[in-house]
Amino acid sequence: MMKIRNINIQIEEHETAASLQKPEANLLHHAQEAIEGSYAPYSEFRVGAAVLLENGEVIKGSNQENAAYPSGLCAERVAIFHAKSKYPDLKVKSIAITAASDNFITKSPITPCGACRQVIAETESRQKGKIRIIMKGQEGIVQAVNGIENLLPFMFEEEQLKKSKKK
Ligand code: THU
Repeated sequence: MMKIRNINIQIEEHETAASLQKPEANLLHHAQEAIEGSYAPYSEFRVGAAVLLENGEVIKGSNQENAAYPSGLCAERVAIFHAKSKYPDLKVKSIAITAASDNFITKSPITPCGACRQVIAETESRQKGKIRIIMKGQEGIVQAVNGIENLLPFMFEEEQLKKSKKK
């Protein structure tokens, strides 16, 4: 027998940042500011992220590139790893992401890459709490999701690395 399982995902779309709650609009401002710290001489695609912790603190991150390309890191992971290394026990409530570039069109919302989604997934399972992800470009709509399952359905989780009893 075969059956098809459908997974439902939900993406909120706000016409402008004005319809977001104040702390989220504020977090997007921090993400925008974080772009200043971007080091992206190779791609010239400058990304900013801001993480809101449960104590209200905001930790910013920006993409950091390297001449050996894969050695660089995305803004989201810079921000999340910084937050978790500074406050290992504090939950991440939300992350805002945006980008700017002189060479690329960055009007539409910037969505996290696959590797960053995987890191957000691990952060959620570690803290046993969902993370809200707020995404914006330089113009237009803001997209938001409540939990990484909406961006990374059918994900690989730490649960699947549970050891079997017999060796
Ligand atoms: N990048 C991010 O920082 N976050 C994303 O979500 C997408 C991509 C960075 C990686 C690289 O420095 C540049 O943007 C172009 O891919």
